[in-house]
Amino acid sequence: MVSEQLKRAAAERAAALVTDGMRLGIGTGSTAAHFVAALGLRVRSGLKVVGVPTSEATRRQASAEGIPLTTLDETPELDLTIDGADEIDDALRLIKGGGGAHLREKIVAAASARMIVIADGSKLVSTLGRFPLPIEVVPFGLKATEIALATLFDDLGLEGVLSLRKDAHGTAFVTDGGHLILDAALGRIDRPEALADAVNRIPGVVEHGLFIGLCTGAILATGDGLVELGQV
Ligand code: A5P
Repeated sequence: MVSEQLKRAAAERAAALVTDGMRLGIGTGSTAAHFVAALGLRVRSGLKVVGVPTSEATRRQASAEGIPLTTLDETPELDLTIDGADEIDDALRLIKGGGGAHLREKIVAAASARMIVIADGSKLVSTLGRFPLPIEVVPFGLKATEIALATLFDDLGLEGVLSLRKDAHGTAFVTDGGHLILDAALGRIDRPEALADAVNRIPGVVEHGLFIGLCTGAILATGDGLVELGQV
């Protein structure tokens, strides 16, 4: 199966897990978009849910699908979040933020009793870090934040290249929150917990894409069928 079919298969399985009355976190990205489409079908057949979208793009798609939306301010505790990931390891640690939405995604996941990741099987890795780690930063003091991050990587023995994310027009990518993203190509992250804590301590960093202790289960679609990790 090609990647889009695999993503759709994982997304449809996740949509089948949703039951009446659930308060949902709705993820961002191409796999989450398949989930939104599958959820929309169920909603139009009578399923009663409310959802908190994790990006403006997801808000637009979910709204067009007729999915009732709410905010975390109105609904601060969620039952289930379904979202994609850029990498996942067998301890259910994630790298997210390839689409630049990881700040809202992390807030929504943390407000959810369960977070299930949907992805094609290529996202499963033995060691995180091949996918560059997205680090959302405030525009003020960008250069100083970049130097602090480079110094931290050096101190931790990580060899990494930081690059400012650009959009399709070659200008700086701006997140839904009005911030910038530095992508850290680290190759491998042997101690994700230590890195996550250290990056969070740098002034100017808003949020990074390491999700640790948030994902409770995963549905991975492979050419041989669906593989489940954790609690699904
Ligand atoms: C959005 O910022 C990301 O965290 C996505 O969830 C992640 O990039 C996965 O996207 P795809 O499903 O498009 O691979």
